[in-house]
Amino acid sequence: MADIPQLIDFSAAALDDAFASLRAEIKHAVAEPGFDADAFRLEWLGRKQGRLKQIGDAWLKTAPAEAKKLLGQRFNLLKEDIESAFSAAESGSAKSTSGTLDPTLPGASQRLGAEHPLIRTSAEIVSVFQRLGYSVALGPEVETDFYNFESLNFPPNHPARDTQDTLVLADQQSKPENARLLMRTHTSPVQIRSMLEQAPPLRLVIPGKVHRNEAADATHSPVFHQVEGLCVDTHITFSDLKGTLDHAMKALFGSSVKTRFFPSFFPFTEPSADVQISCIFCGGKGCRKCKHSGWIELLGCGMVDAAVFHAVNQRRIELGREPVYDTEKISGFAFGMGVDRIAMMKYGISDIGLLYSGDMRFLEQFA
Ligand code: PHE
Repeated sequence: MADIPQLIDFSAAALDDAFASLRAEIKHAVAEPGFDADAFRLEWLGRKQGRLKQIGDAWLKTAPAEAKKLLGQRFNLLKEDIESAFSAAESGSAKSTSGTLDPTLPGASQRLGAEHPLIRTSAEIVSVFQRLGYSVALGPEVETDFYNFESLNFPPNHPARDTQDTLVLADQQSKPENARLLMRTHTSPVQIRSMLEQAPPLRLVIPGKVHRNEAADATHSPVFHQVEGLCVDTHITFSDLKGTLDHAMKALFGSSVKTRFFPSFFPFTEPSADVQISCIFCGGKGCRKCKHSGWIELLGCGMVDAAVFHAVNQRRIELGREPVYDTEKISGFAFGMGVDRIAMMKYGISDIGLLYSGDMRFLEQFA
């Protein structure tokens, strides 16, 4: 058993010195190659013969009454230090800091992250349009009724609003209807925001998250993603729209894919169309995926409605800007597609919920 150090001076400073040298001794012992945790515990913490007990007894016996409290506090701290040195040594971490590092043990590997399939798909769609000279525009997810509906030619109480069941923010009743806040139901409000900021010509692609008040099932999610497009210039025609989307679908799904356009309705485009592509699973022969029609409906589009240009000009005047969207001189087309559906088709995902579950077993497949 090691000697018990003698203590004559019981001032706080002298006590600190004495305890510091005990601490140094313990640190040294723990760092020793071949450190034996069990022996260490017995030597320092043994109830009867442990060094801590012996030193405590000896020092307290000779200490003047006023130093007993100082001593007690320092003993408690030292005990905690020994306990933690001991448990660190026991868990093995003391070994790695002690020079007994085992270089044959496998290292702690950092796993590389991967792009989420939705982000990847969205970026892929965006890049197809960037290669055609489009720029990226973004807008807020919390919108006003004005940008999400009114400026896009959905008047208050118009039945077209029923097609986009909306999540509205609470406590908006005191505001005029068009200033009330809601979660955007589509990326189309960014068309308006962009035209307020920029004069034509304009070629924009707008990716983003949108929200609708819908029950979740295998093909619906109250949160989903869209990519919007807007092209405004002189002499833009419906053939430009058809050619652009036909090219984009071939770039996304392969050069053998065909497109066809059906009359449809959106308040902010006239004429409007739904676009179908030939089924990418059966090549158009008909299968379960395309409900035996050979075609899959993928996006909405149309020529920008004059009412939209008028709303933009009106708002530009209110903001002190030139009303430069002259419907006599310019025209444009817009389109919007669902990223989630495209990602599901591309990767063979049957439940949209998987895209939002955060389940590593699902996500790791895209690494
Ligand atoms: N915003 C429409 C929707 O979400 C899609 C669309 C965009 C249609 C642009 C036409 C032009 O349903």
